[in-house]
Amino acid sequence: MSGRQVGESGRVRITDEEVRLLQELVHDHCGLSTGVNDGFFLERRLGPRLRELGLKCFLDYYHLLRFDPGGDEELDEFVERITTHETYFFREQFQLDGFCNQVLPSLVDRLSARRSLAFWSAGCSTGEEAYTIAMLVREQPQLDDWNVRVIGTDLSRKVLGQARAGVYGPSSFRTTRADLRRRYFEEVPDGTRVCGAIRRLCSFRQLNLIRAAQYGSVGPVDAIFCRNVLMYLSGSARNQIIESFYDRLAPGGYLLLGHSESLLSTATRFEHVHLEKDLVYRRPLV
Ligand SMILES: C[S@@+](CC[C@H](N)C(=O)[O-])C[C@H]1O[C@@H](n2cnc3c(N)ncnc32)[C@H](O)[C@@H]1O
Repeated sequence: MSGRQVGESGRVRITDEEVRLLQELVHDHCGLSTGVNDGFFLERRLGPRLRELGLKCFLDYYHLLRFDPGGDEELDEFVERITTHETYFFREQFQLDGFCNQVLPSLVDRLSARRSLAFWSAGCSTGEEAYTIAMLVREQPQLDDWNVRVIGTDLSRKVLGQARAGVYGPSSFRTTRADLRRRYFEEVPDGTRVCGAIRRLCSFRQLNLIRAAQYGSVGPVDAIFCRNVLMYLSGSARNQIIESFYDRLAPGGYLLLGHSESLLSTATRFEHVHLEKDLVYRRPLV
């Protein structure tokens, strides 16, 4: 066991070497880079966990993660404590307008013989994004008899449980129009639940975006929403994921990223599609 490293405030101190070891471990696991290179951040987020586990220093925590039989489970707990799951319904409305007014019509034109559409919310957190996509599609009367499927995936099992339940509190509704709330939600004792018709279009499963071998479970899709996820990952993880998305998209399929994420400085096979107020990416048809 290593010596105790406790500062005057009672906080367990982390050394530069411990930061490096934990950073490398978490990066290999899921590609995360934001925050994990910051010792103060790690001390704040993980100090309480070390105390819960009765560990004296971060090196002991690293050894537990790496070599203990329960290390994989603890790695999930570690990642849970350093990631953000911030999300809400109808996030980034300008982009959703572009999706409804330009992306969706182009898919509908091209796929009218097939009459089916599949969407992927990659890094869906508690599910609001996946349900938002389903509601936006259901708002299009010409798609009433189309077969629509939305799959939401995330690394965190904890958020997926909430996504499947589909029950939300007020902060998820900060930008939801009153008429949409009336149409697609119902009040239940523990919150506000997405209605059955929308829940039936959506399914959720655990998937680590840096493990391309897991993508097969999603099936081919016509559009991928991966918003506010890549910004927390390293450049190498981002590039690898973008390439895997390309292979998962049907030809002519779209990739929509968050407003602070772009492929402008990335070498990629995607073509850029300039919408009225947004830039999205498309796998060329041929
Ligand atoms: C800030 S939330 C974004 C939620 C939603 N896409 C939105 O824009 O509102 C980021 C999510 O990405 C997930 N995430 C981070 N790294 C991941 C990885 N390697 N594989 C899968 N999901 C990951 C996190 O667990 C978290 O729930």
